[in-house]
Amino acid sequence: MARDFTVGEVAKRAGIAVSALHFYETKGLISSHRTSGNQRRYSSDVLRRVAVIRVAQNLGLPLSVIGRALARLPTGQPSRADWDLLSAEWSLELNERIEKLQRLRDGLSDCIGCGCLSLDKCALVNWGDKLAAEGPGARRLLAERK
Ligand code: FES
Repeated sequence: MARDFTVGEVAKRAGIAVSALHFYETKGLISSHRTSGNQRRYSSDVLRRVAVIRVAQNLGLPLSVIGRALARLPTGQPSRADWDLLSAEWSLELNERIEKLQRLRDGLSDCIGCGCLSLDKCALVNWGDKLAAEGPGARRLLAERK
């Protein structure tokens, strides 16, 4: 049977600050229970949750997305199927982000429809700032995939 961990043990094992654990807990991303002496304890599954949170943050996923996904996991030790569902959902999100980054990379040196009309190509591609009618921002970069 797996033992419970103190906040310091989790922080050390996960390689993050105790304050980060408290932050994740206030955001509802992880949870703990209290001992009879009112000390905070974490079950072993918190280590995987923290690792997943850190990876997701490094991938640029917002805490709201991470929190929604983790909220759907069962309390205690999630099964492989639970993690597979979460992974599949994030794969879609990450694919969308990758496509946006590729569009950004590929179009950054050309007209991006920002309204500046400063590039020599803008006069042709965004003549008269016609893309402003579509809304604010760099329209060519912000355009959603159709
Ligand atoms: S780059 Fe700004 S409108 Fe074309």
